[in-house]
Amino acid sequence: MSEKSETSELLSTRHDSGVLELVLNRPAKKNALTLAMYAGLVEALEAAADDDQIQAVLLRGEGDSFSAGNDIADFATAAQQPDNLKIIVRFLHCIAEFPKPLMAAVQGDAVGIGTTMLLHCDLVVAAEPLRCQTPFVKLGLVPEGGSSLLLPQRIGQRHAFELLVEGRPFDAERAQEIGLVNQVVAPDQLRQAALERAGQVAALPAEAVRLSKQLLKKEQQSQLSRVLDEEATLFGQRLLSAEARQAFLSFMQKP
Ligand code: COA
Repeated sequence: MSEKSETSELLSTRHDSGVLELVLNRPAKKNALTLAMYAGLVEALEAAADDDQIQAVLLRGEGDSFSAGNDIADFATAAQQPDNLKIIVRFLHCIAEFPKPLMAAVQGDAVGIGTTMLLHCDLVVAAEPLRCQTPFVKLGLVPEGGSSLLLPQRIGQRHAFELLVEGRPFDAERAQEIGLVNQVVAPDQLRQAALERAGQVAALPAEAVRLSKQLLKKEQQSQLSRVLDEEATLFGQRLLSAEARQAFLSFMQKP
């Protein structure tokens, strides 16, 4: 059994027995994702895809929340220069096309991409309290991360409208009901339960796992890839809209 850990300012990694734990490490900001964090995630995932020692990846957040989504201040600045946003789209393609099992352990707030990235995970373990929400429209934005394709497919157009347009929050029980979460465990068991499950997956015959995951996803892969890019183009345009600028300003000026 080999164990290896690395910690950067906002992202830490730990590799043990075939499982790479990728930990969002910005708990004071509810693990809101900066462009630098996306770059770190992409680098770690691309390396993991090519590393024969890694059979499964587990995403989780340090502190009381999984992730409050895109960092709004970072976003407001990055929006002025659309090229800055390419790293987010690259991250989304990376998780949508990741060849090995991708898992997440989630609790607390999971906002925006903090929820939509779960759609690309093969297994999700959650603990209450969990508060998933995709408040894109309230922010003057549009759904991202392939959610405009994957959620209506999973729960039907009307329920998807509640989540993606009304931005209604939902808890772990509902997340399990709609197939976004596999297993709900007690809060103090979240990391252990997720690591245990990841360890079991990592112990399966690696090539058979890779081929099986490919089979499960292949019919939809090209459509998903196209939708990710379409959403990203519209999302980038919306970031510059007066509606979005006003929503960002309100968040940043909150007392
Ligand atoms: N971007 C930047 N900073 C964020 C953030 C985000 N997405 N989400 C939270 N933070 C920061 C807060 O500004 C606060 O910072 P401060 O302590 O310096 O004031 C800190 O994280 C804690 O957040 P706070 O709002 O005090 O916690 P809360 O428990 O009251 O609410 C949330 C948690 C996640 C519900 C709330 O922070 C929120 O709505 N965040 C925005 C989520 C969002 O819209 N994401 C983008 C989707 S595209």
